[in-house]
Amino acid sequence: MRLIKLMFAVAMLMFIASPAIHAEEAYLNYKSYCMQCHGMHGKGDGVNVPAMNILPRDHSDNKYMMSRSNTEIYKAIKFGGPAINKSVKMPAWGDTFTEEELTQLVGHIRSLCCEKELVRGVNFR
Ligand code: HEC
Repeated sequence: MRLIKLMFAVAMLMFIASPAIHAEEAYLNYKSYCMQCHGMHGKGDGVNVPAMNILPRDHSDNKYMMSRSNTEIYKAIKFGGPAINKSVKMPAWGDTFTEEELTQLVGHIRSLCCEKELVRGVNFR
């Protein structure tokens, strides 16, 4: 009985903490796969930049990123730059991440550009 209660408590804790866990996963994926171009905080200042003729997007640029829908961001990540009429220098990540991870990355990018809007509950479509 005690064990069941304990298992229940652990399950509840995992449920409550899951948005934070997802945010952490997305942060780690961003750090491993995106940072070399987009930079640690998404400012478009990664180590690859000096060798690039098309600059990685500054994901913290609120004004620009507010003009993008979540669907466009998702498409760019899954299918690469050309999917939203952008450069092939933005690789496609559809084979690297699961659907859930892709969605979480969209969320992570929103947290880099649009924190105030997220708090206000803006619908990014
Ligand atoms: C090899 C360098 C490189 C890597 C690695 C990379 N990107 Fe990009 N990304 C770019 C470039 C360059 C652009 C800009 C393309 C343009 O403006 O034509 C871009 C653009 C984007 C855009 C489009 C923004 C917009 O609407 O204009 C998104 C979203 C994006 N990257 C997300 C990611 C994510 C998430 C990752 C990691 C999973 C990632 N990128 C990894 C180079 C890269």
